[in-house]
Amino acid sequence: MADALLTVENLAVEFQRNRDRIYAVNGVSFSIAPGEALGIVGESGSGKSVTLLSVLGLIAENGRITSGSAVFQGRDLLKLRRRELEEIRGRDIGMIFQNPMTSLNPVMRVGDQIMEVMLTHHVASPKEAYRRTIELLEEMGIPEPEVRFRNYPHEFSGGMRQRIMIAIAIACNPQLLIADEPTTALDVTVQMQILSLLRDLRQTKGMAVALITHDFGVAANFCDRLIVMYAGSVVEVASRAEFIRRPMHPYTLALKESIIEVGHRHREVRAIPGMAPVLTSPPNFCAFADRCPFAIDRCRNERPQLRSFGNGHGVACHRAEEVLELVH
Ligand SMILES: Nc1ncnc2c1ncn2[C@@H]1O[C@H](COP(=O)(O)OP(=O)(O)O)[C@@H](O)[C@H]1O
Ligand code: SF4
Ligand SMILES: [Mg+2]
Repeated sequence: MADALLTVENLAVEFQRNRDRIYAVNGVSFSIAPGEALGIVGESGSGKSVTLLSVLGLIAENGRITSGSAVFQGRDLLKLRRRELEEIRGRDIGMIFQNPMTSLNPVMRVGDQIMEVMLTHHVASPKEAYRRTIELLEEMGIPEPEVRFRNYPHEFSGGMRQRIMIAIAIACNPQLLIADEPTTALDVTVQMQILSLLRDLRQTKGMAVALITHDFGVAANFCDRLIVMYAGSVVEVASRAEFIRRPMHPYTLALKESIIEVGHRHREVRAIPGMAPVLTSPPNFCAFADRCPFAIDRCRNERPQLRSFGNGHGVACHRAEEVLELVH
């Protein structure tokens, strides 16, 4: 995509754990356009967080990026020095994570934490930063912002803490917000409130959002476009409309918990038992084969590449045509 905000190409990340090499991300490519909401969906362990943490230079010490590029506004983030990346993080790219309690400083007033990010990145004077912090708390739907400014994280509910995390993440007006399971720890009502807040922010500020979630419904609800990951690979990419109209990858079908009668054979694609594998050898095969009702010998011997099916819809499955025929 020529005018993309972020273009990740062929990203591969490995971890060393004791004697094992873990192939966590295996040649992932995707892009995000300015203002777009991209959903990154997959079960726990599918490589969603590692993909985006690598782009931000935040993977664990035992991890290594073995290939790829991540071009953000013309610069390859994977080639930048630590200092240059630190400037971009929090200023041009905001981040929110699953558990706001571990990301907020428990002994610092929340208002100061919001101000701090603006001061660190030199985007506001102390006076402006204070004014903007009050504004942000208001925008986040936090009543009595001048009073709440002086409170500590433990004086807020989980949902309110997540709102404060969002305020910190967007304080410098980033072009891209990365939200890694931002609502997973919250109950359903609060989850909806946070998602609707994020949706409003996208509309008013025009920022792009990369939403990482294990919940296909949440992604399909919130995002313009989705990528589905499995065992460190993108197995399907398409617009929301395409995913609703004709999901194609057997794993996507299972993720959607579709219990579908497959054509005249009345075969069902069910949420498939088992777990996402941790790969300790390079995936020269389809990592989904052990759980896939469509698997054939070829799937165990050859890695399926992402193939285009028009409308920006890509699927990495040897049998995508047949699955499409059977299911739709
Ligand atoms: N520091 C680490 N050491 C070893 N393996 C890791 C480390 N961090 C992540 N992994 C492995 O990488 C894979 C992808 O993890 P992750 O991106 O966190 O998954 P997700 O965010 O999709 O739940 C998992 O198999 C996980 O065990
Ligand atoms: S490549 Fe084979 S095992 Fe993998 S999803 Fe497609 S049919 Fe199933
Ligand atoms: Mg994760």
